[in-house]
Amino acid sequence: MNPLLQKLQSYPFEKLRVLFKDITPRAGVKPISFGIGEPKHPTPALIRDAVIDSLGGMASYPATLGSEPLRESIAAWVKQRYHLPSVDPLTEVLPVSGSREALFALAQTVIDNRTTDPAQPPIVLCPNPFYQIYEGAALLAGAEHYFVNSDPARNFACDYSTVPEDIWARTQLVYVCSPGNPTGAVMTLDDWRELFALSDKHNFVIASDECYSEIYFDETKPPLGGLEAARLLGRGFERLIMLSSLSKRSNVPGMRSGFVAGDASILKAFLLYRTYHGAALSTVFQRASVIAWQDETHVRDNRAKYLQKFKTVTPMLAEVLDVRLPDAAFYLWANVSRTGLTDTEFAARLYADYNVTVLPGSFLARTAHGTNPGEGFVRIALVAEVEECVEGARRIVEFCRTLGA
Ligand SMILES: Cc1ncc(COP(=O)(O)O)c(C=O)c1O
Repeated sequence: MNPLLQKLQSYPFEKLRVLFKDITPRAGVKPISFGIGEPKHPTPALIRDAVIDSLGGMASYPATLGSEPLRESIAAWVKQRYHLPSVDPLTEVLPVSGSREALFALAQTVIDNRTTDPAQPPIVLCPNPFYQIYEGAALLAGAEHYFVNSDPARNFACDYSTVPEDIWARTQLVYVCSPGNPTGAVMTLDDWRELFALSDKHNFVIASDECYSEIYFDETKPPLGGLEAARLLGRGFERLIMLSSLSKRSNVPGMRSGFVAGDASILKAFLLYRTYHGAALSTVFQRASVIAWQDETHVRDNRAKYLQKFKTVTPMLAEVLDVRLPDAAFYLWANVSRTGLTDTEFAARLYADYNVTVLPGSFLARTAHGTNPGEGFVRIALVAEVEECVEGARRIVEFCRTLGA
């Protein structure tokens, strides 16, 4: 067996299962889950219809490069969304089977783990808290991860000035997540300027996970993307790859349809890797994805639903917890310290007494530099329909009141 597998940590939802395993929620109370970040709004009819109309595609093997119409529709979307002068559909975009597998596979492509000193493996920098795939991708690529804690005092931005020079010297890949899971924070142009300067100095690749980019609350202010930041700063896409998907934007996590875009030389190597990796997006979903990337109406409708939920639920919860509207994405990252409970105690008692599931923040972060930056927080995924979210929030408020919050 590959010994690196032993380095993998159990997934946050497995930790949650263990936390809840001896708890029987109060009888007669309908379960409400704010735990998993899986979109629950119905799949738009135009995408369902497109899937049905495309079923004939099952008769053929899909091309790893993706079909021409799909690459063109993705390139057109990226160009329009990020105000770019041009995006080459042939060399600067590549369809993938959801951003998760691409985040993983990218590390396997980029990391050069040949080293003269086994005690000094290459480094992959991850934000902390973070999406756990980054860590597993780094470990299975033969790299070591280094966590940069996000700072609540700076809207959860990572403070890269804390990273020592000898770590930078070994850093080959930096993951960023904007809008962030779990904090919802969006990187600013200044954040990007700093990161690009570091990448120029230390020659690392930036993997910008942007799968929440289309869930935001002000129609006039879509989150800044990495490619857009590069253009605004007068750069090209060198050493920069963005990853996105239809999962959250179009409520089709089961379709596994995403893309990567950016540095053509990295994408060339990535395509080669993927030829063997064998995760080409099914022809049926390639065809339906063209329709999905070409339509913004369903995306605006989707955002309107999230806005309604966040506008209703956030002020309710702000009465009892330290929480505010995030920049973007569909999570509330709530500090529960004032209830006197830890994040795991809070989640366990809320589940037992009110049958509401939230995810303890410490499960989404690692202890690094003497602290677990997820401790004291819970992640509340507002993915269910409005009424259910409001009912769940009402129960959380009642629970916190019993704790004197
Ligand atoms: C931060 C982040 N990145 C990537 C993904 C993967 O999404 P998908 O593979 O559906 O594109 C998720 C899924 O929840 C996520 O939270």
